[in-house]
Amino acid sequence: MQICQNIEQLRTQISQWRSSNETIAFVPTMGNLHEGHLSLVEIAHQKASRVVVSVYVNPLQFSPEEDFASYPRTLDDDLNKLEASAVDLVFTPDDSMVYPEGEQYSAYVEVPVLSHIIEGEFRPGFFKGVATVVLKLFNMVQPDIAVFGEKDFQQLLVVRKMVDDLNLPIDIIGGQTKREADGLAKSSRNNYLSPAERENSRILSCSIMVCRCQIEQGADIVQAENSCIETLKSHGFIVDYVTLRETGRLEKVSNDGLILNKELVILAAAKLGKTRLIDNIIFTIK
Ligand code: PAJ
Repeated sequence: MQICQNIEQLRTQISQWRSSNETIAFVPTMGNLHEGHLSLVEIAHQKASRVVVSVYVNPLQFSPEEDFASYPRTLDDDLNKLEASAVDLVFTPDDSMVYPEGEQYSAYVEVPVLSHIIEGEFRPGFFKGVATVVLKLFNMVQPDIAVFGEKDFQQLLVVRKMVDDLNLPIDIIGGQTKREADGLAKSSRNNYLSPAERENSRILSCSIMVCRCQIEQGADIVQAENSCIETLKSHGFIVDYVTLRETGRLEKVSNDGLILNKELVILAAAKLGKTRLIDNIIFTIK
């Protein structure tokens, strides 16, 4: 497994592969890797002959109140996991390579509307930071395929929209959310939970499953969303949102016949103590 810290090294290897007609699948990450990330690597192996993973904690997607400084950085452990997953190349740029003049002075890309609703309302600037770094990484790696997790469903849609709107010749593939045995979606931020919070955290995935069942059985959507919010609050969560949307543009759906045969998603974000968790469930009512 090659480890490249700079863009020149990366480009040299990529152009060698290109000249021998290899295909390249790319998995961008911020490190502190778990089975969720590694499941995306597996998908990447199925789709291309070479797999590139980046490990970079992107300052542009963190607001000043967020956990950029304390975000877990575990590169040695990550490299061992990637080696065991037969990754061909790991790209580990530093801030001076990605944002030579500082991230505030960098040109950026903004995906309108999708970036400013739901998660974007609670994290202004977040999707601008994500879209910008993903576009930069795409331009560095120039992959044929890139794999993103459905765990961050709105992020996946923002990346898809950017790729479509800017005519990038890259196939974006979504990978299913990997969960702990009790249903909690795997996340690097789960390490922040105290043992008691960890125990309680399973309520998030349970309550959105209940919400889904209620909606499938014809419950009023707003009532089902509110009852999910109340359940979470009663277990000590501070809820940012629980909302049912269609999976195209994340528009609201109402209780009429149009709900049938449409792919839907319940998106949720809530804090337990200092830890902010997000989750979602994708489903179709036949
Ligand atoms: P990070 O949180 O490290 O996640 C990297 C990729 O792993 C994302 O596509 C994310 O959706 C996916 N992922 C995380 N948890 C998962 C799980 N439980 N199951 C399946 N996939 C999961 O998302 C980012 O980094 C950054 O925003 C990034 C795209 C790298 C840009 O900086």
